[in-house]
Amino acid sequence: EKNVAVVLSAGQGKRMHSKMAKQYLMIEGMPVIWYSLQAFEECPFIDEVILVAGEADMAYCREQIVEKYGFRKVRRIVAGGKERYHSVYNGLLAIQEDCSYVYIHDGARPFLTQEILERAREAVLIHQACVVGMPVKDTIKICDEAGFGIQTPDRSALWQVQTPQVFSYSLIRGSYELLMEALQKGMEGTVTDDAMVVERMTDCKVKLVEGSYSNIKITTPEDLAVAGSLVLLLRAEKNR
Ligand code: CTP
Ligand code: MG
Repeated sequence: EKNVAVVLSAGQGKRMHSKMAKQYLMIEGMPVIWYSLQAFEECPFIDEVILVAGEADMAYCREQIVEKYGFRKVRRIVAGGKERYHSVYNGLLAIQEDCSYVYIHDGARPFLTQEILERAREAVLIHQACVVGMPVKDTIKICDEAGFGIQTPDRSALWQVQTPQVFSYSLIRGSYELLMEALQKGMEGTVTDDAMVVERMTDCKVKLVEGSYSNIKITTPEDLAVAGSLVLLLRAEKNR
């Protein structure tokens, strides 16, 4: 079994409104992207990491992240694309055929733990496809274009999905190839996660696995403040 992680770091972080891309901002002295790279580095069953970076940031990533912090599992840094799914696809293209499972992870999610990785591994060995997530805490509404609520889906069936999203390599590679063809032929709709690609392009069902409410994505400025507190909290728990 060969396991490869694809860590996504090619977004522009528009909702963060910061000068530097959000994945390179600091949380308690380390860049956001450092935390998940470190989790993969420490994970005994992850063999390699492919880091997907913005075209203009490839040298920065090599020197200021991979070399500076000594991430030995990062074998390749590849250029991302315009949308997240382009970046994922480029990451998948960089993986060798002998890969068994791919762990796709948002570099903007620093609180990946070994426990989450272990639960994901258990599930993917059985189901070939799984995504980490948590039951939603808030009630979710579907609204019309004028901003009026028109439906309230049953909360107990709703999950917020996180990453990692983990798949057998042949399944996710095949699904993305089909997606790219479909998009070229004019397929409509947006693609916001990898599980969607598998759901749309194959009959394979994607298993939901328990993540953590701490496994947040750094998206807007307040997330960075929360992240600072979380680092301290998780550190204190570890040392208790
Ligand atoms: N990502 C990527 N390539 C893209 C878009 C996103 O690799 N073209 C990555 C981001 O770097 C991030 C993850 O996908 O780690 C999740 O995306 P998101 O939180 O939306 O990040 P951004 O797209 O950078 O932020 P925004 O949508 O606010 O611009
Ligand atoms: Mg985005």
